[in-house]
Amino acid sequence: MKPIKKAVFPVAGMGTRFLPATKANPKEMLPVVDKPLIQYAAEEAVAAGIDTLIFVTGRNKRSIEDHFDTAYELERELEERNKEKMLRIVREILPPEVKCVFIRQSEALGLGHAVLCAKPVVGDEPFAVILADDLITSSDKPVLSQMVDVYDYQHCSVLGVQEVPMEEVHQYGVVDARDASDRVYEVRGMVEKPAQADAPSNLAVVGRYILTPKLFELLETQERGAGNEIQLTDAIARLLGNQRVLAYNFNGKRFDCGSKLGYLQAQVEYALAHDEVGDEFREYLLGLDLGPSIASKRAANG
Ligand code: UTP
Repeated sequence: MKPIKKAVFPVAGMGTRFLPATKANPKEMLPVVDKPLIQYAAEEAVAAGIDTLIFVTGRNKRSIEDHFDTAYELERELEERNKEKMLRIVREILPPEVKCVFIRQSEALGLGHAVLCAKPVVGDEPFAVILADDLITSSDKPVLSQMVDVYDYQHCSVLGVQEVPMEEVHQYGVVDARDASDRVYEVRGMVEKPAQADAPSNLAVVGRYILTPKLFELLETQERGAGNEIQLTDAIARLLGNQRVLAYNFNGKRFDCGSKLGYLQAQVEYALAHDEVGDEFREYLLGLDLGPSIASKRAANG
């Protein structure tokens, strides 16, 4: 089996939950403290040994390309002003040996379709998929590195999963998987956004995948599913008929930065852990008078 060297970043979604912030900018460019979500994802991929980053972009693609490109004017100005630290930050967004490829998904037909758009660059190799709006911290190694370890040992597709409350399973792709050993489960089935009563478990697939190239073949014939979109989950469910698929309950804390609440939680936790502002931010939070909740104010106002 070939090693995992390529990662696909689908960034062509509409990001409707963040409008109007996402009107002219992809949600993956939203910053958490001082870095856009897509940069955390790219760093996670590079740490896992990935050397080719494939961005599947949509109509608002410019800012992501610019972010990973050289910014000559900015660098010259920082140089002239002797801003060494800032200069290093903008120059070291990615190590020089890492390549970026941009592919356009002309219509937002779904995550499965976005992944299929990367086929000409990925070719006949296993690859990773990272959804940058799932931001994951870990006290262990980064999540994709944990998953690459599982792949290197098991040589098959690996899905990053997390236990979620049963009331939330309808928001996720959910796996039918039991009998974990060392956080690894054999997947027997998979369903996208099931009703609570139909969910095979509470193990939800979150935005990290290692997939074999066989998946592209299945995506090519994949019909539209939930939300009338070409779903990655549906193609993976079909992959199960051909190949072994594992679910890996990763060690880490995930923030759903595709939702306002998850994004705000990430801001707070990343700010508290930030070298430069963490301590002052903690003081600020401790001094806050939170006052009554909006719901109780509403109730008081009738
Ligand atoms: P989401 O389900 O979060 O959809 O996509 P979205 O459009 O980004 O956001 P909302 O729900 O309207 O707020 C999951 C991931 O799949 C990508 C998105 O960019 C996101 O990373 N995606 C989704 C595509 O690249 N293309 C698509 O057609 C759909």
